[in-house]
Amino acid sequence: MSSLRLMLRPVAAFSSAPRTLPRLVRFQTTSSSSYENILVSTPKPGVGLITLNRPKALNALSSPLFVELNDALRKFEEDTEIGAIVLTGSDRAFAAGADIKEMAPLTFSDAYVNNFIAPWSYMMTLRKPVIAAVSGHALGGGCELAMMCDVLYCTKTANFGQPEIKLGTIPGAGGSQRMTAALGKSKAMELILTGNNLSGEEAEKHGLAAKAFDGGNKEVLDGALETAAKIASYSRVAVIAAKEVVNKSQDLGIREGVEYERRIFHSLFGSQDQKIGMKAFAEKKKAEWTQS
Ligand code: CAA
Repeated sequence: MSSLRLMLRPVAAFSSAPRTLPRLVRFQTTSSSSYENILVSTPKPGVGLITLNRPKALNALSSPLFVELNDALRKFEEDTEIGAIVLTGSDRAFAAGADIKEMAPLTFSDAYVNNFIAPWSYMMTLRKPVIAAVSGHALGGGCELAMMCDVLYCTKTANFGQPEIKLGTIPGAGGSQRMTAALGKSKAMELILTGNNLSGEEAEKHGLAAKAFDGGNKEVLDGALETAAKIASYSRVAVIAAKEVVNKSQDLGIREGVEYERRIFHSLFGSQDQKIGMKAFAEKKKAEWTQS
């Protein structure tokens, strides 16, 4: 087992020695032993779990929280034993948005010069799949963070929305783009212009969520971990390729997208795992992946 895995293994409720953090924090690395806003664990083989853990602020997404989240994501991305990542919150909140108290005093030049919330886009660079398990509020940046994940699971009673209009601003972490892609222009426009919310049940109906579960965070998290474990049981090479081609469909027209997919499909004939998977099928055996 790698030393990194040993570092991530315990469900970490790490010590909270007070420290001064800059008001705006760009991408940095930190030791998982000093996490104050998240918990990390590996609850199933091949699965990394990150739990947002700022309960007093309903997991509001402060800059220090993002430093920790990006650090944990990077460690799971680099850990060869991890095949899929799950991101969750609590029964009450996945995340109630960007931290309004942190944002309130910012000036235009604070935000512009420091490229405020740019580190949120780190999630988009990950090649391993991330599943969001959402219960309770997923508002503003919380909704945007959930939509950045590759698969979105939620409870039927989860509360999605982009309420920034009520604060005199607009979504800033991709909400207008991803919500429109998922729901269509009219529904997204209605939600973003009114600040109205969407239940988890409606999110599933409109295609924002892959699945809405009865119950609370435990139930949706169980579902997400089960799916993550299934994904982690496949060849990492094929999983990364599958994520890449699905994401390409967001950027390319159908003709270019199909051609791109075919090129990646062709390239997988150069992998060991394609030979192993197809041979195992023919021999009615379980494939033993080499991840190569
Ligand atoms: N930022 C900072 N603190 C927040 C927060 C946020 N986004 N959301 C909740 N909190 C804090 C509250 O201030 C409160 O703290 P105190 O106990 O110290 O007062 C604590 O969390 C609990 O919140 P409430 O008492 O308000 O709980 P509630 O159950 O009555 O209401 C809620 C829950 C409807 C989610 C309400 O908290 C709320 O409306 N939150 C703000 C949601 C929002 O507007 N999100 C968008 C933020 S802007 C953004 O995200 C921009 C972007 O695109 C990047």
